[in-house]
Amino acid sequence: MEKNKQIVDALLAWYPEHARDLPWRKDRNPYHVWLSEIMLQQTRVEAVKEYYKRFLKELPTIEDLAVVEEDRLLKLWEGLGYYNRARNLKKAAMTVVDELDGQFPDTYEGILALAGIGDYTAGAIGSICFDLQTPAVDGNVLRVYTRLMEDASNIDKQSTKKQIREQLAEVYPKGHCGMLTQALMELGATVCVPNGAPKCDVCPLQELCMARQHDSWQQYPVRDEKKSRRIEEKTVLVLQCDNRIAVRKRPKKGLLSGMWEFPNVEGRLTEQQAADIATKWKAAPEHLKMNYSYTHIFSHVEWHMTAYYLTCRTMCEEFQWVTIDEMEADVAMPSAFRPFVQVLKESK
Ligand code: ADE
Ligand code: SF4
Repeated sequence: MEKNKQIVDALLAWYPEHARDLPWRKDRNPYHVWLSEIMLQQTRVEAVKEYYKRFLKELPTIEDLAVVEEDRLLKLWEGLGYYNRARNLKKAAMTVVDELDGQFPDTYEGILALAGIGDYTAGAIGSICFDLQTPAVDGNVLRVYTRLMEDASNIDKQSTKKQIREQLAEVYPKGHCGMLTQALMELGATVCVPNGAPKCDVCPLQELCMARQHDSWQQYPVRDEKKSRRIEEKTVLVLQCDNRIAVRKRPKKGLLSGMWEFPNVEGRLTEQQAADIATKWKAAPEHLKMNYSYTHIFSHVEWHMTAYYLTCRTMCEEFQWVTIDEMEADVAMPSAFRPFVQVLKESK
């Protein structure tokens, strides 16, 4: 236990000197901290920065978020992936505004009860905004902890996360809870890094770390074996009529639900088969301008896509027909389809 206290003190001394200057660290407004933590799940800090600023510029208060239209919300989230995160943000904002008098909850249970908020996010908001002794145990923290302790528990197990959360909660220092949460994350992100060798020679915990003592960092953390991804072949049709492009909305359920896409079909079609489908859709295809192939990798699946760019004569009813400017302003297109937009712009 004495050692745990030394770890905490070393982290709290290190953090103010070494913390990166990030846009969500400027205040402790729960709306700001919450938004940043949701964006940072599954997404790199560098990628999040601009999204975060743009989101708050357009929706500066939780009341604004509670009434935003879904298409607008998805456009603000475009490219970040895991779009249910955005829908849950709005749902939780509605709860805060409509049921809690606009007051963000200030207890762990209250925070945890909001849509889209799990143990990790509730712990982060609780400690950072309300100085609660609630650790936020994410991948960074699990890596740091298991190395420090040479703990060989499987971090993909809920029971491991729970145990580590409970261990950490005991040493959370009242008055500095938010700083400890951020210091643990920061050390994991910048020193005890996820890819490649940890920078033990600049680590404030080097004297206290078991993995450092035994040069065993490569053994931690222990994880489940990775499952290989399913591969799906797709044919994408970029249909162009005058200066408008066909797009359609994806179904309400499943991967990328509610986002927009170019019309596409399963399997790898030939040029002729693609033109036949466009004819069946009543778009009256005229001319194949080009094709372009691209593979998009999701967490559990890879889409191997070939796109055919076809000029057409008819803006058939099957689709919405938008200009590139309209697409950029209003149509939320997931990253899987963005390269096809890019090629379209470059070919003009
Ligand atoms: N990753 C998750 N939360 C973070 C935060 N608040 N700052 C930096 N990286 C993070
Ligand atoms: Fe990670 Fe090295 Fe620090 Fe241990 S000493 S916590 S392995 S960076």
